[in-house]
Amino acid sequence: MTYDFRIEAADKPVMYRDLAAALEGLMAGESDAVANMANAAALIWETLPDVNWVGFYRNIDGELVVGPFQGRPACIRIKFGEGVCGAAARSRQVQRVEDVNAFPGHIACDSASKSEIVVPLIRDGELIGVLDIDSPKTGRFTEEDEAGCIRLGEILSKAL
Ligand code: SME
Repeated sequence: MTYDFRIEAADKPVMYRDLAAALEGLMAGESDAVANMANAAALIWETLPDVNWVGFYRNIDGELVVGPFQGRPACIRIKFGEGVCGAAARSRQVQRVEDVNAFPGHIACDSASKSEIVVPLIRDGELIGVLDIDSPKTGRFTEEDEAGCIRLGEILSKAL
């Protein structure tokens, strides 16, 4: 079987709609969380322009531990409340950061990262982990990206 999800869309809402549909298709019928996170990271990495890290931190006993991702090797463990991922985990709110260097406590795994969006993944009231997407461009993530990534997070929360 081959997977060829080449998504080319005129605008962000359409692109995220197609990406969400592809993500649902990619994970349909598969319950293995590692497999789903790995394929999701690869799909998002292939689809979104101007990103340098896409992946997951999982909530393991109240600490974020890196999961499947695309990009440079990253920090392994992040405490709740630390950096952008830790802020998303503690607050359970999406963190959309225009300039990571202006974010107090930002953890610079890759100095190329300039902006970032982190979506908490919640199922049945439990924080499963976070989806983290970094960009080498300042202000890369707009409100449209936030809406699209929240949708991806809803799909992921059910499949992990
Ligand atoms: N920048 C993140 C750390 C994780 S990496 O960028 C992959 C943060 O401050 O949460």
